[in-house]
Amino acid sequence: MDIKAVVLAAGKGTRMKSVTTPKVLHQIMGKTLLGYVLDNVKNFASEQFVIVGHHAEEVEKFVKDNYSNAHTVLQSPQLGTGHAVSMVCPALVDYDGLVIILCGDTPLIKEETLRKFVEFHNESMSDLTVMSTIFENPTGYGRIIRSEDNKLECIVEQKDATDAQKAIKEVNAGIYCLNWKKFKAAFGDLKTNNAQGEYYLTDIISWGKSQNLNVNAYILEDSDQIYGINSRLNLAEATKMMNKRNLEKYMTEGVTIVDVNSTWISEDTVIGQDTIIYPSTYIEGKNVIGKNCKIGPCAHLRGDVEVLDNVKIGNFVEVKKAKISSNTNVGHLSYIGDAELGERVNIGAGTITANYNPLTKTKTKTILKDDVKIGSNSVLVAPVTVEDGANVGAGAVITKNVPAWALALTRAPLKILENWVRKRK
Ligand code: UD1
Ligand code: CA
Repeated sequence: MDIKAVVLAAGKGTRMKSVTTPKVLHQIMGKTLLGYVLDNVKNFASEQFVIVGHHAEEVEKFVKDNYSNAHTVLQSPQLGTGHAVSMVCPALVDYDGLVIILCGDTPLIKEETLRKFVEFHNESMSDLTVMSTIFENPTGYGRIIRSEDNKLECIVEQKDATDAQKAIKEVNAGIYCLNWKKFKAAFGDLKTNNAQGEYYLTDIISWGKSQNLNVNAYILEDSDQIYGINSRLNLAEATKMMNKRNLEKYMTEGVTIVDVNSTWISEDTVIGQDTIIYPSTYIEGKNVIGKNCKIGPCAHLRGDVEVLDNVKIGNFVEVKKAKISSNTNVGHLSYIGDAELGERVNIGAGTITANYNPLTKTKTKTILKDDVKIGSNSVLVAPVTVEDGANVGAGAVITKNVPAWALALTRAPLKILENWVRKRK
């Protein structure tokens, strides 16, 4: 059966207390919350609808620039999660397949979990499946209400719950799978008679029950995956959870992480075996790091970095949008951005690729071919190419291409005035 996804991303995110950024565009290690959710559904949902509202233009632009199979649908005003989903009704009038609904503020969910969830939905012949989990501290989440024979009855929001209901630890993950044809009518029937005066998506459970449809809950054991982000505190906690998961994966695959407490590595980074990541290293965005490399301590990889095998990126080195070929060293205190470094290149301490022209606001590239050696404290003013085997003397400012096997110097000649100090004593 065809699967389409609806991702809710229109809410204001009041609890984030952000003036400039809509909630779903806040980031975890260089990737937006919405990006995590869309990456997890894009491979098995044929089409994705992102409901936008608050800061709609920015969210629309993000989706358009990054996800070709996703459409945005405007929800204005934002009258609740149920109202948000109803926005796709016109686009899906004749659709006869599954719809999986997710929240844009739940980035820790894994693709394999969503696949199992849909499998469960199909195998149990459900018309609607809602994902739930057990939280020791369920505060803030909708509670799953079950009948005496343990059947799913309805979902009650925190703000509408009685004290007895608040004690329930099974919560709504905010992820649903439904047979669209059977459920689309529910969205016309939702009411706003609740504490928040909103159209609650959660009310489709009791609607389904009233129509004698087969409604079930799928309990996810790994509750971390449904951790929702409503506040900055949640954002920091989710970043920690995501990082722990990533580091464990890299270690399992044969990467040494010297200090898990000070190392941050994004999910979209690939790292080869026997590479060692030293403490206080921060790796965000999409990167590929080869085998047997040494990264850090205190290195910062900012995304779009490709590092081949046996490369050393040392202390206080920042790298962005760069390819560094095998056996190359960038040992200390350097910035390598918008650059291509060949094999066996050596970059002296304090080398900078000056890639940004603040007048034209453009970035240009530095290319260092194989066996190039750059002396310490040099500035490579892009666009610039240093050809094979050329050397650059320490303290140079390189503004022109350097031919192969040449030595480039820009230094004033050293002058020594004998006894200069002594005469002044
Ligand atoms: C929701 C669920 C709750 C569940 C929790 C899981 C409802 C009524 N409650 O609560 O049962 O435990 O998620 O994380 O569904 N949004 C819109 N348009 C709107 C309102 C919200 O698109 O009009 C989007 C938000 O941007 C957000 C998502 O829907 O991405 C969830 O909204 P939020 O306000 O965070 O709901 P919760 O209170 O967390
Ligand atoms: Ca939420």
